Amino acid sequence: MRVLGIETSCDETGVAIYDAALGLRAHQLHTQIALHAVYGGVVPELASRDHVQRLIPLVQAALEEAGLALHEVDGVAYTAGPGLAGALLVGATFGRSLAWSLGKPAVGVHHLEGHLLAPLLEPDPPDFPFVALLVSGGHTMLAHVAGVGQYTLLGESLDDAAGEAFDKTAKRMGLGYPGGPALAQLAMQGDATRYAFPRPMLDRPGLDFSFSGLKTAALLALQRCAPADHADIAASFQAAVVDTLSAKCRRALDQTGLTRLVVAGGVGANRQLRKQLTQELAARGGRVYFPRPEFCTDNGAMIAFAGCQRLLAGQRTPPAFEVAARWPLMGLTPPTAD
Ligand code: KG4
Ligand code: ZN
Repeated sequence: MRVLGIETSCDETGVAIYDAALGLRAHQLHTQIALHAVYGGVVPELASRDHVQRLIPLVQAALEEAGLALHEVDGVAYTAGPGLAGALLVGATFGRSLAWSLGKPAVGVHHLEGHLLAPLLEPDPPDFPFVALLVSGGHTMLAHVAGVGQYTLLGESLDDAAGEAFDKTAKRMGLGYPGGPALAQLAMQGDATRYAFPRPMLDRPGLDFSFSGLKTAALLALQRCAPADHADIAASFQAAVVDTLSAKCRRALDQTGLTRLVVAGGVGANRQLRKQLTQELAARGGRVYFPRPEFCTDNGAMIAFAGCQRLLAGQRTPPAFEVAARWPLMGLTPPTAD
């Protein structure tokens, strides 16, 4: 089965083709970062309009990359939520209508399920079950993953998501939007031991996170420092986030008795996080799995892949579809023909 995947939940238009037998055949991405950067964050209406303009050229480019004609696609998967309602509606309306016009099935995919399953696009993917750390701009969560649609929440952020804390700290440094990658870049020149920022919630049992105190500590340090100190603050802040995430991952593995850890979502592209978790998992005889950095952030490949698993199981979204700006991942069930 060849599935065309469409992602438009926020500020990236992603289109990809995943073939259940041959793997990923094409993936195309347009990022709206330049469009929103002048406003310091995503402007939902501009995002929706840009998705409208980008989708058809990206689908054409993906088909060309895969060497396929449109009628050779066997199904369409689109992100149905969570995300910006207008942006979601663009991809959902386009995807569902395209499937209808081709007489092919369609399925609406949960954006976070897409992120969670993205490491399975890589060669040598993890077997189920595993512990997943999902760290994006909107979510920080640890889950037990027993299979597609079999997710148990282990812990989540009580306030800011990890990516949000990166972005807000970066914004205060004048690094623009979204500042996470720029802050990580600056951190490479800094001394991570110079500022002793808190490692929140490690003194308490449980697997929940809280990043707002750490973010505030970094913002206070920024108020009192000279511009030359920014690299040290960036490095110390990043070290505190990475230490906190790693400690909770170790705790989740201890608690579940599992040895496989999957890391997904935009912050999963962070080099320091990848390095530290790789070393720690190797030291405890386990293994960590990451998607390639471009599949950590939003993309169409993860939606094509997750949609393919559900379409193969017979799941279909009828032509009268819905999108959901808010949609708990834990409400998902394994794919069934319904
Ligand atoms: O998964 P994603 O593309 O979008 C959401 O679904 O939220 O994640 C975007 C987030 C942003 O907060 C961005 O700053 C962060 O991921 N991010 C990073 C890095 N690359 C992206 N944070 C830290 N280090 C990075 N290298
Ligand atoms: Zn995302």
